[in-house]
Amino acid sequence: MGRSRRKKEPAPFPQVTLDIESIDLEGQGVAHLDGKVHFVEGALTGETVVAEVVKSKPSYARARAVQVLKASSVRTTPRCPHFGVCGGCAMQHLEPSAQVAIKNRALEDLLERIGKQKPERMLPPIHGSYWGYRHRARLTARFVPKKGGMLVGFHEKASSYVATMYECHVLPRHVSNMLVPLAKMLEGLTIYTRVPQSELAVGKGVTSVVLRHFEPLAEQDLQALRAFGEQWQVDWWLQPEGPATIHRLLPSTPVDLQYLIPSFGIRMRFRPTDFTQVNHLINDAMVSRAVGLLELKPEDRVLDLFCGLGNFSLPLATQSSHVKGFEGSEDLVQRAAENAEFNGLAGKTEFHVRNLFEVESAEWESWGRFNKVLIDPPRDGALEICKAIVGAKAEFQPQRIVYVSCSPSTLARDTAVLCATGPYTLKQAGVVNMFPHTAHVESIAVFEK
Ligand SMILES: C[S@@+](CC[C@H](N)C(=O)[O-])C[C@H]1O[C@@H](n2cnc3c(N)ncnc32)[C@H](O)[C@@H]1O
Repeated sequence: MGRSRRKKEPAPFPQVTLDIESIDLEGQGVAHLDGKVHFVEGALTGETVVAEVVKSKPSYARARAVQVLKASSVRTTPRCPHFGVCGGCAMQHLEPSAQVAIKNRALEDLLERIGKQKPERMLPPIHGSYWGYRHRARLTARFVPKKGGMLVGFHEKASSYVATMYECHVLPRHVSNMLVPLAKMLEGLTIYTRVPQSELAVGKGVTSVVLRHFEPLAEQDLQALRAFGEQWQVDWWLQPEGPATIHRLLPSTPVDLQYLIPSFGIRMRFRPTDFTQVNHLINDAMVSRAVGLLELKPEDRVLDLFCGLGNFSLPLATQSSHVKGFEGSEDLVQRAAENAEFNGLAGKTEFHVRNLFEVESAEWESWGRFNKVLIDPPRDGALEICKAIVGAKAEFQPQRIVYVSCSPSTLARDTAVLCATGPYTLKQAGVVNMFPHTAHVESIAVFEK
């Protein structure tokens, strides 16, 4: 009889005790040991933890807390059982108000370090709506027999694996409840290995799901989608190829996807893959604050740059004489014009398609005179726009700029352009906790000439 060969157990990770000095935006504790910085998953500022070192490089190490010897007063129990594995959230173990404080500090630091500016006043953070807030999500679907079948969820942390996700507390409750039935229904399709993604958009009273499928759906698959749609109030859209091929499963019963901006009595219509702000309640507060910070007068002419489907443009139009919006996506420009019409604001607004990453001062001047400007760029920021403003003749430079940002580092870079090379002062800045429990930092800054 041959000798049984035992599979070799992997060597255990070395354990160390660490005093956590601070926390980074990814929600990792930062500590030093023997001169080397350690990034510690699951550890908070002021804590002492036992951590296993999962990766050690000459200049840094990555570790995972396995025991908390001294806990922080802002530590809290994560609501989600998948927290720590699922890549959707980074900070559920931290009180929401402490999350906001971290984001606020990160914003101040970057403005000072990269922007070389200190706002005259920090704005009180906009926060709240911590759970069930996420009205858009792109979920990956993968059939993994070893894990029990079809998985539908976000990716695991820093990995391309799909997280096992039976519930999700940042998604609206009815969407969270739908996750397991959705996985089961997809597993029953004849092409179950060829449906890699479901993109969800939640509107008032209806949820749209865009199903990406690499092969044609059989009649029985379509029936399964229809039955699921009826049970879960899902309006299905299908995407057989690129984005231009997206179409509704049931075109004869159109459903209107809408979100509200209650402070302005505005209803926005959108399509499932349009850019919309994910947290509708916080969006209302953010739009109100941005409009307020522009200190509008009825005679003001306002530019809304990166205007999308008119999320800021329409509220701005309710308090000014005219709003001109620029945006790179033709579809969104069309949607903005339709939304202006739908909300009775078409006479005060106009929308144009333009690539705002290549605008120069001469073109800026050709747009006309606008005394107030709102800028809400993607993560890349608005460097060319800021340079165009600074390089324009004085009479074409707006009096007040409100800059809404989803990346504090590009905001800080653009701040330097407006303030160090241009005539602007950074008056106020503050965070908007649009994405609680995640590392995303949304913020607002106000510049005055
Ligand atoms: C952060 S979103 C803001 C949209 C809108 N303000 C809102 O609140 O819904 C950024 C917008 O910039 C647009 N965008 C991205 N790159 C662009 C470019 N190079 N030129 C113009 N617009 C662009 C996107 O299509 C998107 O609508």
